[in-house]
Amino acid sequence: MSRSTCRRYSRPFWRGSGFKAKSRRIHLDVKVETLEQGFGDHRKLRQALSKLIDNAIKFGPHGSEILVRVSGDPTHLLFEVYDQGEGLLPGEGEKVFDPFFHADRVGDERAPGRGLGCPVAKKIVEAHGGHIWVESPPKN
Ligand SMILES: Nc1ncnc2c1ncn2[C@@H]1O[C@H](COP(=O)(O)OP(=O)(O)O)[C@@H](O)[C@H]1O
Ligand SMILES: [Mg+2]
Repeated sequence: MSRSTCRRYSRPFWRGSGFKAKSRRIHLDVKVETLEQGFGDHRKLRQALSKLIDNAIKFGPHGSEILVRVSGDPTHLLFEVYDQGEGLLPGEGEKVFDPFFHADRVGDERAPGRGLGCPVAKKIVEAHGGHIWVESPPKN
């Protein structure tokens, strides 16, 4: 593990997200599995990553686990954020990247956000030539 890679991308956890997670008794498991430094605007990439982590904290159940993994090779960095929340319904996966989208759920007491986190993350990732997507396996 490279110290600088770790510091570059683990910053969202000790800058804000870590406190939010703690207040919801959510455990953040952060795995940095690459020696790669990445390229581009690290501050912006970190901002994109923290948008995803903030959603995982917001939509993950109280007391749940979130896994954040940073892996890569000399040409790509991969950021993965897993939460244990309800996820999205079929067809909603692409909509999260539309500005102001919010999936309304019956009995959903979470404060609605502005719906700009995912669109902003997408802009940042695509400005770096990358892709961003959602996977939400159907629950039985
Ligand atoms: N990890 C997640 N689990 C479930 N739903 C999510 C998740 N991330 C995003 N969403 C859905 O996508 C919507 C848009 O997310 P985002 O752009 O970050 O806006 P906001 O967080 O301000 O609502 C959320 O309101 C929610 O309905
Ligand atoms: Mg958000």
